[in-house]
Amino acid sequence: MATGGVITRGKTPEEIALIRESSRIVAGVLAMLKEHTVAGATTLSLDAIAEEYIRDHGAEPAFKGYVVHGEVYPNTLCTSVNEAVVHGLPDSRPLAEGDIVSLDVGVKKDGFYGDSAVTYAIGDVGEIGRKLMKVTEESLWLGIEQAVAGNRVYDISRAVQKHVEANGFSVVRELVGHGIGRSLHEEPSVPNFVPSPFQRHQFKNTALVDGMVICIEPMVNAGSYRVATRPDRWTVVTQDGMPSAHYEHTIVVREGAPEILTTMAAQVPNAA
Ligand code: MF3
Ligand code: CO
Repeated sequence: MATGGVITRGKTPEEIALIRESSRIVAGVLAMLKEHTVAGATTLSLDAIAEEYIRDHGAEPAFKGYVVHGEVYPNTLCTSVNEAVVHGLPDSRPLAEGDIVSLDVGVKKDGFYGDSAVTYAIGDVGEIGRKLMKVTEESLWLGIEQAVAGNRVYDISRAVQKHVEANGFSVVRELVGHGIGRSLHEEPSVPNFVPSPFQRHQFKNTALVDGMVICIEPMVNAGSYRVATRPDRWTVVTQDGMPSAHYEHTIVVREGAPEILTTMAAQVPNAA
């Protein structure tokens, strides 16, 4: 829908306060789920406790009922295990030692959204699993560091891609981060790769301005960046079957330092 010349504006303090509320609940869900994400637990059981937590906090799960390409998402969480990249459907298979599981959750409260994801390890996930999780999380932090007024979207993209590829991994091309607010997905797109000249219409190098709220979400594959979708029509998996990790924060662009909204901390984490 975005047309050329549209300036993606920053949000008002009132809007940001509402996104902060939703985002804090999101952070609470992921923190709460950590101790439940263990061998023997099913992702469907995690989904149920996540939904209960969200409703107990006077909010709604953002993904449940969300429509993408005519398909209605049926759950509160996306649970993407091992070779699943994102949009994994919770199921009844118990998690097992060695699994890495990405949990992605969105919340809507008072008309505004928050969105975050984390990857948790089930016991010992081996050297590749550990390195994949570490590099993916680091790439998120490096991307967030670039989310300052005066920079542009590709500064985030470049920081993420550079760190991932320097470590021998790859960034997924088919899915990208996004603006967020009254909608779960708003302009601008936030790719985890610097778009080629042919992709620059699709992913604009939008200037970052104070108050802009975006979701930065590196999806990192241990092997090739190529992905496919399972017959369930949702779960995105790596084509080569190698593992993938995903971390995401909702952040607000500031002059000086970005602020993470999907945290339970009351204030800016890196404030002096
Ligand atoms: N965090 C993901 C995203 O931003 C989750 C969307 S799942 C969906 O795309 F079901 F809502 F599509
Ligand atoms: Co997102």
